[in-house]
Amino acid sequence: MLAQLFDAACYLSPDIRRFLIRNWFQYLSALDKDAYMTCMNLGYVSLDPHTEQLTLNDEDIHNHYCLQMYHHVVHTIDLEGLDVLEVGCGRGGGASYVKRYLKPKSLTGVDISKNAITFCNNFYHHVEGLHFLQGDAENLPLADNTFDVIINIESSYGYGRMKHFLAEAVRVLRPGGYLLFADYRNSENIVTLQKSFLDAGLTILNNTCINDNVLKALDLDHERKQQLIEQKVPPFLRKVFFYFAAQQGSEMYRWLKTGMVDYRSFVLSKSTS
Ligand SMILES: C[S@@+](CC[C@H](N)C(=O)[O-])C[C@H]1O[C@@H](n2cnc3c(N)ncnc32)[C@H](O)[C@@H]1O
Repeated sequence: MLAQLFDAACYLSPDIRRFLIRNWFQYLSALDKDAYMTCMNLGYVSLDPHTEQLTLNDEDIHNHYCLQMYHHVVHTIDLEGLDVLEVGCGRGGGASYVKRYLKPKSLTGVDISKNAITFCNNFYHHVEGLHFLQGDAENLPLADNTFDVIINIESSYGYGRMKHFLAEAVRVLRPGGYLLFADYRNSENIVTLQKSFLDAGLTILNNTCINDNVLKALDLDHERKQQLIEQKVPPFLRKVFFYFAAQQGSEMYRWLKTGMVDYRSFVLSKSTS
């Protein structure tokens, strides 16, 4: 009930939506004192048996499914030597993975949550070329034409106005740069999402529905997340967490399964002129 109320309130106005989402992630960041939850997307598993498995260091294994989402979203572009921005970096686990494993020249993570950015600045200060700053996706505190690639994973559903984020993304990307995007929407809003990319002047190079990949990750990671929520979250809030983590038995899981909610990844490019 609490989860549905939160969700319904998010649709009242863009400003209410931004306010609620920001405070929700502020709270999440404050809750995870042991730095266990450094990645926060729903996860991804390739359904192709020939796909090579990610080889991860011990310290990254617990984020396996979330990092596979990052791998899926970015794998079509060679990031080595590029300037990369992640908008909605959360607690930085994905940004740190991309910087350490895929070797861009620089990686800047931006998030609206002050707690998340404070955490990132403390936790990853040893990773060279990885920087974090607090900022709003709809008004990025960054100069024009600065980045070759923007990563945006499971963050945009919280934005007040998607159009403003896309205008900002196009502004800070260099000509010919890429926006690598993944997020979910109610299925009837996917056409609007695609149109908003085109209206922003982006070209859609790839558009993939990844519901089955996300559901597989949710199934495989169910026990671990269940235990984490039961250990860390006060009982009265657990149902909200089950909903937002799309745990088996939650409405969000069911909606992904029935296709009422559509989780998509896109490769988008800015024109070269
Ligand atoms: C589900 S988390 C995903 C974090 C990260 N991308 C990952 O996959 O682990 C969504 C993140 O988007 C951030 N976010 C939401 N609205 C934002 C906005 N308007 N500007 C910047 N970040 C925002 C939240 O604070 C949160 O950290």
